Amino acid sequence: MAIKRPKGTEDHLPAGSPKLTLDVSAQAHGWVVETARRVLERAGAQRIDTPLFEEADLVKRGVGGSTDIVRKEMFTVYYFGDHGGYILRPEGTASIVRAFLQNGLKQLPSPLKLWTHGPMFRAERQQRGRLRQFHQVDYEVLGGSDALVDAEAIALMVGVVRELGLTGVRVKLGSIGDPEDREAYNTYLRDLFTPHLERLSDDSRDRLTRNPMRILDSKSEDDQTLIAQLNVKPMLDFLGEDARANFDAVQGYLRDWGVEFDVDPSIVRGLDYYRRTAWELHHEGVGAKSALGGGGRYDGLAEQIGAQAVPGIGWAFGVERLLIALEAEGHPLPAQAGPVVYVAALEDSLVPAAAAAALASRTSVRAEFAYRALKPGNAFRDAERRGALFAGLIGSEEAAAGTVQLKNLRSAEQFTVLLSDLPDFLAAQEQAHLDPTLNSPAHPASPVILENE
Ligand code: HAM
Repeated sequence: MAIKRPKGTEDHLPAGSPKLTLDVSAQAHGWVVETARRVLERAGAQRIDTPLFEEADLVKRGVGGSTDIVRKEMFTVYYFGDHGGYILRPEGTASIVRAFLQNGLKQLPSPLKLWTHGPMFRAERQQRGRLRQFHQVDYEVLGGSDALVDAEAIALMVGVVRELGLTGVRVKLGSIGDPEDREAYNTYLRDLFTPHLERLSDDSRDRLTRNPMRILDSKSEDDQTLIAQLNVKPMLDFLGEDARANFDAVQGYLRDWGVEFDVDPSIVRGLDYYRRTAWELHHEGVGAKSALGGGGRYDGLAEQIGAQAVPGIGWAFGVERLLIALEAEGHPLPAQAGPVVYVAALEDSLVPAAAAAALASRTSVRAEFAYRALKPGNAFRDAERRGALFAGLIGSEEAAAGTVQLKNLRSAEQFTVLLSDLPDFLAAQEQAHLDPTLNSPAHPASPVILENE
């Protein structure tokens, strides 16, 4: 095939596709998002959605000029006659803070918990689990600065992985202090690295002036060798009194709640807006260098984009990476249920009647039909291929009587049901199938059976 999807993107495929794996299964993506939604909405988070493209300035000021995202990975949006001042969003936080400020969400009860999910865009070099269009589930809390909010956010992130059934996840917790702590650390790093300028990668030389802390996060092996040789002190050694007390309080809550974590002094995070609590979730199946997700506090972000300060904290998971971790732990693809009924006509002139029976059934269950007349054997075979619970046949006798002949493909039981009773009958059968205890004689499947052959 000549035209292929762009590099670094994936098609999310329907069940039964030959190339299906968990991370490209549309159903599995939906299941992850739905699971996260349940956990987050139980905690009071409300759904918010923002545009897929934003003013470039928002991202430059929000995410920060020293980050790889802004320096190398932005997708600019051009369209006829436009100045190209928009970019595809690389993450959700800056957009959600913009939406909070622009739409007066400050007036809602505070702290306000929000969540979203959807595609994000970064022009990264493609690898397994590193895409140019990937998907995040994102949780943000605006208006709360207490350590309790931080601990709850981390606990919720762990709650999502637990609900998904993942076991091998590690929380790496750090703090990047208040702005003045970070400044002191950056001065320390500048003094440390400047004598070794010639050994640093071009990117890291640039970081030395813009934001030295980002050198520690470098993807260059030479940079990492130098970092190891210099025995660099961690940011945690530079925390001021307030940030230290806050960090201790967060850990205290997590211990009280039985949320396991490791303090990791090397947590840097790839975005400039963080301060104080910062963390990442890791999983062996995804590899040591790639996080399942990460988050942190960003009390300065609203000011950075030109508004009054609003404290905030949040996190995001990479949905593809969660699916890779689930695959590594041997979780199967979610089972795809077939239709409750597949209706076929036995004669050409009755095909519209079969279609009408299926359409009417859709008021209560999933129902499909054959687009041409079939022999009974072929109708049963097609229904089975689709995973249907019942095959329904309409021949001239049924058409005259206003009925449909149903065969339960698992038990081989047969029923003749009035078309007008079909939706209720099928709904009861589906219920009984989902909960077999309902199928006992004490719970007749439906009162509408004309005859049980
Ligand atoms: P982030 O660490 O840049 O944070 O991204 C969060 C997660 O998105 C990563 O841990 C990873 O799972 C996934 N991810 C990032 N880039 C890619 C990629 N190229 N391919 C596949 N997955 C990727 C943020 O985006 C912050 N907005 C999180 C946050 C929310 N902080 C506060 N609130």
